[in-house]
Amino acid sequence: MSPNKHNRIDPAFKAIRKEAQKRREAFIEAPVPKIHVGMATCGIASGAIETKTAFEETLAKRNIEALIHTTGCIGHCYAEPVVIIDHPDSGFPPILYPEVTPGKAQMLVKLFLEEGDPRLEHILGATVANELIPSIMDFSRFNKEKRLVMEKCGHIDPEDIYDYIAEDGYSTFVKSLHLTPVDIVNEIKNSGLRGRGGGGYPTGKKWELAMHAEGKVKLVICNADEGDPGAYMDRTILESNPHQVIEGLAICAYAVGASRAIMYIRAEYPLAVKIVNTAIQQAKELGLLGKNILGSDFDFEVEIFQGSGAFVCGEETAMIRSIEGFRGMPRHRPPFPVQNGLWHQPTVINNVKTLASVPPILKNGAAWFRSIGTEKSPGTAIFSVVGDVVHVGLVEIPMGVTLRSLIFDICG
Ligand SMILES: Cc1cc2nc3c(=O)[nH]c(=O)nc-3n(C[C@H](O)[C@H](O)[C@H](O)COP(=O)(O)O)c2cc1C
Repeated sequence: MSPNKHNRIDPAFKAIRKEAQKRREAFIEAPVPKIHVGMATCGIASGAIETKTAFEETLAKRNIEALIHTTGCIGHCYAEPVVIIDHPDSGFPPILYPEVTPGKAQMLVKLFLEEGDPRLEHILGATVANELIPSIMDFSRFNKEKRLVMEKCGHIDPEDIYDYIAEDGYSTFVKSLHLTPVDIVNEIKNSGLRGRGGGGYPTGKKWELAMHAEGKVKLVICNADEGDPGAYMDRTILESNPHQVIEGLAICAYAVGASRAIMYIRAEYPLAVKIVNTAIQQAKELGLLGKNILGSDFDFEVEIFQGSGAFVCGEETAMIRSIEGFRGMPRHRPPFPVQNGLWHQPTVINNVKTLASVPPILKNGAAWFRSIGTEKSPGTAIFSVVGDVVHVGLVEIPMGVTLRSLIFDICG
């Protein structure tokens, strides 16, 4: 990138951040309670739409002012619909209420927002005294987790790009535009990040091969096929914080010299498709995607390809065939996709979690990432724990935690 182009990037992004911070401050400072409703697939399947409607109708009926903020999944899927009420005037910290049915929503408006009593033990079956109501971050599950990829999931509105930017979103991408591709690839190599799609191939090495590969056009694919039974980590990330994945994709594309990416999302994930679509449109509107991003000479377009639900299409060479319009059949490698991939061009394929790990790594540095997890596999892993456990849901823990600890200590 020519050096004079840098001068335009920072003011352009500064203006976007300023707007995001203004909106965030207006939200926080609004002198009314905030009701955060989890509306990812797990929430909706448990009735979150009806719960949100009940809040809206009861607030209107009782003439109470409050802001309803739609979020994604916080990972505690066993407790859906999950609602967090932040009512600073009451003197209580934000309180996480589990299993909030429309009836409980009505009671919460009356008892907590109108009368100032957050206990609701007769509704929720809890027996805590007022002063013992814990802050949501005191939940033991959060203490055992380490969230890098899911840090913002369940806290930001996935359909509002400014919510992500207010939390430092896209600033790592902007920082990356000041670095050389070699610097970025080296940082990812030094971090020791390994692909989260199953094979565990070193991400930095894959990007380096793609960077040096010969080809007129280079491509990036985000693998969101996720066909393994019971797995819904990638879906949840896309539904709860799509911009972190898009930011990782943009950094990857800049590093390897690609200007086009395809997000391969299975068609059984309609909410993820809708939310990612909105995210792409919003990023385009702000000039974070498209031609001459933020006035630089980096062009980058992202599009969605919906997979038809064949498990094998999660395998990278079958996925390439599927995008090309053929039956999804794996082929022998080599050549690897980084040498000869989609439409015979060098192609990087990375999993959703791999790409979402990239912004925190470049923001905090390779050494920080290496301090988490194990020597051979730094960082965190995300599990969807389903079946015969008490706390079904998503858990992000450092690599190296035993399955026994995950299943018994964390998920009960
Ligand atoms: C049968 C089969 C199914 C696969 N399904 C997926 C999948 O759903 N998601 C995924 O990311 N990787 C899947 N993989 C691994 C991919 O082929 C590929 O290694 C991965 O997308 C590379 O990304 P990563 O380096 O970020 O892990 C599958 C592999 C096989 C053999």
